[in-house]
Amino acid sequence: MDIERIREDFPILRDLIYLDSASTSLTPEPVLQAVLEYYRRYKSNVGRGVYRTAQIADQRYREAHRKAANFIGGGGGEGLTIFTRNATESINIVSRGLKWKKGDKIVTTLVEHHSNLLPWIRQREAGVEIEIIKPDREGRIDLADMERAAEKGARLVSVSHVSNALGVALPVKEIGKICREQGAAFLVDGAQSVPHMPFDVKDIDCDFLCFSGHKMLAPMGAGVLWMRSGEEIEPLLTGGGMVQDADEGSYEIKKGYEGYEAGTPDISAGIGLGSALDYLRNVGMDEVRSHEERLTNRLLEGLEGINGVHVYGPGAAGGKEERSGVVSFGVEGFLPHEVALMLDQASGICVRSGHHCCIPLMKHLGLKYGTVRASIYLYNTATEIDKLLSTLEKMARMA
Ligand SMILES: Cc1ncc(COP(=O)(O)O)c(C=O)c1O
Repeated sequence: MDIERIREDFPILRDLIYLDSASTSLTPEPVLQAVLEYYRRYKSNVGRGVYRTAQIADQRYREAHRKAANFIGGGGGEGLTIFTRNATESINIVSRGLKWKKGDKIVTTLVEHHSNLLPWIRQREAGVEIEIIKPDREGRIDLADMERAAEKGARLVSVSHVSNALGVALPVKEIGKICREQGAAFLVDGAQSVPHMPFDVKDIDCDFLCFSGHKMLAPMGAGVLWMRSGEEIEPLLTGGGMVQDADEGSYEIKKGYEGYEAGTPDISAGIGLGSALDYLRNVGMDEVRSHEERLTNRLLEGLEGINGVHVYGPGAAGGKEERSGVVSFGVEGFLPHEVALMLDQASGICVRSGHHCCIPLMKHLGLKYGTVRASIYLYNTATEIDKLLSTLEKMARMA
């Protein structure tokens, strides 16, 4: 992986050290060019026009769906790949689209981002029972707890692959197996894994996969929901572009992704996502994963060597499979927001601070003010990690 070549595609990196890719990633020049090209040369709506530029837009937008499906091993007619605004919308399409009955049961965990928790909690209004499995201090869940919860007639199990707060990876393959055995549908929130490692829906054996394009080099407004064929999900929206036929009393929904994308979609975001997936495929997801692993280990070892710094989630001794490049920590004597502000002021380092949209998890861990979170992506370097560590070392000595 030619990191210097990659960094040329992100000119913003000349001015700052960006370690907040778990929130949203940067967007490289070729992706920006693809978006601009759409606006400059062939802006038109999709699924409607017969003229030349409309056909180009239609073909590129459709092609982007195919690229997204192939990227996660869900191509070749295996399932349906729908473009949404973000992972949150994808999860809500499933939670709103399944026909729930009183007494149905959903299993999830306390590790989840609010976006994979609140849509299920809301179903309590429909008489649905929610079981929320609690993790240990590192964010690991016990598979026996999952098995026990799923055994009691769960209709759906919904978990994140990688925690956006602690970086811990959940054993989704094993959870997938439990779901098959128990006849539960399985949703994986891949917002923090699909951008960072190879992912195959067949290997994990999930029924639904949700992720956000803006966390993987694409523009804002590009989210994805993949679902296995045969799942009965009512579209969230009805209206233009999604019907095959309609009369005064009824309508027939189009087959394929169009049936779930009522109204004019964000075409430029979809085309930009297609370009972002090309970019990541050219670099290679195995390469992305091992680059991030190297930097994560360097960061974890460095943090663990600083007096007064505490790492939350699996530390440097944790197994490779167990964590991603999302690293949460605290500095004694400072609030997380203070640390983040000082890192920016002292060294132009962008990190996230606070509860990371995981208030229930932070309460469970007793972290009232949350954590500081550095998150790594393919464009980060060892020099940047060292700069973060040396700035933190100075800060910890001040306390
Ligand atoms: C694990 C996880 N799930 C869901 C989301 C929601 O993503 P979005 O804000 O793009 O909808 C995030 C965002 O940080 C996340 O980290």
